[in-house]
Amino acid sequence: MISNFETLIFSVSEDIGTLTINRADKLNALNIQVLRELKGALTELRAAPIRGLIVTGEGEKAFIAGADIAEMKSMEPGEALAFSELGQLVTLAFEALPYPCVACVNGFALGGGFEMALSCDFIFASKNAVFGLPEVKLGLIPGFGGTQRLMKIVGERRAREIIFSGRNISSDEAKNLGIALEVYADKAQLLAETQNWFKTALKNSSCAIYEAKQVLGKGLVEERKAFGAIFQTQDMIEGTAAFLEKRKAEFKGKIL
Ligand code: COA
Repeated sequence: MISNFETLIFSVSEDIGTLTINRADKLNALNIQVLRELKGALTELRAAPIRGLIVTGEGEKAFIAGADIAEMKSMEPGEALAFSELGQLVTLAFEALPYPCVACVNGFALGGGFEMALSCDFIFASKNAVFGLPEVKLGLIPGFGGTQRLMKIVGERRAREIIFSGRNISSDEAKNLGIALEVYADKAQLLAETQNWFKTALKNSSCAIYEAKQVLGKGLVEERKAFGAIFQTQDMIEGTAAFLEKRKAEFKGKIL
């Protein structure tokens, strides 16, 4: 369904894609190659005939242990700016997917890995998940959207505390802070339960999910425009009719 990429694995089961960052020997660290491949894959995935995406990391140890420190070490400021822009484009592309995208965080989600997970619709984690933005420990700052997106979840003060300390956040704390919505025993359970979540959610109208995703956080004007537009869809006609006829709705699941 998407091109072959050296650092990514892609599979589909029951309309739900799974995108795995496959660089386990370096704890799936994001180097330029991984980011370029992700950018290409996300362009293809935007138009792919799937209804949801799971993002995870290869192996048991890490989701993604951050941007590649060895590669960053020798970057000039201009190269670093371009690297940050590339990482930001990837996170924006995750955010813009026309269907739900869930980050399944197994093990370390540090730096750019945490930032990538933050750009998905939400995060489910395994017990061994460790989150953090440790950039300041390396004399760096977060550069793939972390200074913006974390605040929206944990509030500005807590985001400052997490970024300034660079400390690790356990899966339990991540759940308390609203970073991870659920914590599962291990990676196998994490992936199985996420697949189950999708199975239930995708019984709903894909048009409606798409429209809701477009307007979340965009303001009341956008909300009412989308609310009006949704009345042109077959799914709205079917969903309301099915309720009134006391039967299950059969959504066509087409995106507007
Ligand atoms: N960039 C480049 N390489 C990385 C990496 C990163 N962000 N994170 C891990 N790796 C590499 C290690 O260098 C090591 O490579 P090697 O086997 O060739 O020496 C390999 O992945 C395994 O990591 P290792 O450090 O041996 O595993 P560990 O279990 O001892 O420690 C971590 C795990 C996550 C605590 C540790 O790897 C770490 O601190 N990574 C960097 C995290 C970070 O600061 N990320 C933000 C970057 S801005």
